[in-house]
Amino acid sequence: MSDSAHTSLDLPAEIARRRTFAIISHPDAGKTTLTEKFLLYGGAIQMAGQVRAKGEARRTRSDFMQMEKDRGISVSASAMSFDFDGHRFNLVDTPGHSDFSEDTYRTLTAVDAAIMVIDGAKGVESQTQKLFEVCRMRDLPILTFCNKMDRESRDTLEIIDEIQENLAIDVTPASWPIGVGREFVGCYDMLHDRLELMDRADRNKVAASISIKGLDDPKLDEHIPAHLLEQLREEVEMARELLPAFDREAFLEGTLTPIWFGSAINSFGVKELMDGMAQYGPEPQPQKAEPRSIHADEKKVMGFVFKVQANMDPKHRDRVAFVRLASGHFLRGMKLTHVRSKKQMAISNPVLFLASDRELAEEAWAGDIIGIPNHGQLRIGDTLTEGEEIRVTGIPSFAPELLQSVRAGDPMKSKHLEKALMQFAEEGAAKVFKPAIGSGFIVGVVGALQFEVLASRIELEYGLPVRFGQSQFTSARWISGPRADLEKCVNTNKQHISYDHDGDPVFLTRLQWDIDRIERDFPTLTLSATKEMM
Ligand code: G4P
Repeated sequence: MSDSAHTSLDLPAEIARRRTFAIISHPDAGKTTLTEKFLLYGGAIQMAGQVRAKGEARRTRSDFMQMEKDRGISVSASAMSFDFDGHRFNLVDTPGHSDFSEDTYRTLTAVDAAIMVIDGAKGVESQTQKLFEVCRMRDLPILTFCNKMDRESRDTLEIIDEIQENLAIDVTPASWPIGVGREFVGCYDMLHDRLELMDRADRNKVAASISIKGLDDPKLDEHIPAHLLEQLREEVEMARELLPAFDREAFLEGTLTPIWFGSAINSFGVKELMDGMAQYGPEPQPQKAEPRSIHADEKKVMGFVFKVQANMDPKHRDRVAFVRLASGHFLRGMKLTHVRSKKQMAISNPVLFLASDRELAEEAWAGDIIGIPNHGQLRIGDTLTEGEEIRVTGIPSFAPELLQSVRAGDPMKSKHLEKALMQFAEEGAAKVFKPAIGSGFIVGVVGALQFEVLASRIELEYGLPVRFGQSQFTSARWISGPRADLEKCVNTNKQHISYDHDGDPVFLTRLQWDIDRIERDFPTLTLSATKEMM
């Protein structure tokens, strides 16, 4: 184990105790409820119900936007830190809606592991599958939580089979449910030979945990009705025959996922899941970068921006760049080099995100997420170092799949609109193109709902009603190559040229034929559907 990338005996204890992860799930599977229970056990909130508003607000589209408007809630949920059993957990929120796959992908570049929540009655749903594929691209270790076991749910082996089949990953039961629905009494902890009993009367109570000596222990008869006990013995025997045993190496490599069964709303199985993350989850992992990768135990501080959020507080036009620290021990007031501009920045007001509060971060370690308020210097993909010229790689910008034109409801306000759009472009919330000829803007997104969210944010944050409309274009390609050829191409195709928020030329068209034509006429130029965020 010691030579694997996942564990290093040499990591300073402060770094080794960090677990930075995200929760992935299909809407309604119970992510918000589980998050809340995590915070409860982590001592970050006093009472269940404090983050509840988010789950409720997410029910419908318009409510979802209301949640977006309610920056206080969505912001505190972007990254949360809390302590659990000697570990520091950093939970990074993945946006809830499938339309935000781009944002989600970038969020997952900032974590070392993921918890996949599935609904015991529904199994693997579409959004879970998509998010899982993203985790797989990064070989992230995944812990699975099968939720809502207090309700009628599917057969345990069937659920496990479905995960193995649909997601092509081995599954090992960390716990085994006893009874289903109304008859559900708790779980047998397969990793520690313990009986965990659910208390239906008190939803916030930690389950009673009883140590037993295997499945023949007579103590079991005292707590489990005979027919359920018989069934448990049979099923566990079968599971042990058919399913792989827990193997930490395989888990860390992302080829095996341990599954816990529980009920988030009844606080059941949650502590065991957290124990699993603390005990088996990965320490802060090396970060891919050029010209070399960054290791968490390096003395010098390095970090990268994976998310930018503008207008967190509508009263101040601040932006917060979310930075994942890849190495070192950060202290408030430190001067870091912003590698893209080669400028120094004194980081005097970094924030840590604790449940519902922002707090000044006096210090932070590799693995932590800090927020750096700034006026737009920090962009997604930027690297901060103590002087070294190194750039974190692998934070992509996706090709926009939908293009629409946008105009301010009031034509006198088009400068304001430009400002708002540029801000969202820098956040990575949309691609914004300014046509070389004519007025107005073209906005490109990955999912249709993003247009609605943008319109609602522009109105709320900038007081500007806007109208999105059909664009004559359907594809965007960034053009690069020798300057003279680039200029010639731009000048002879003006009606197709726009500029992105960095001022880089983009070729817009609705015909593949046009793209082929440019490639034929200008063989030295490259037309690319994506642009790595730098
Ligand atoms: P999400 O963030 O993944 O979208 O899910 P969320 O936690 O908001 O949960 C979705 C619904 O499932 C909520 O019900 C929640 O109470 C319920 N739920 C979560 N965990 C469990 C569980 O272990 N057992 C059962 N039976 N239900 C669970 P809702 O009716 O939509 O909202 P509410 O009225 O309960 O607040």
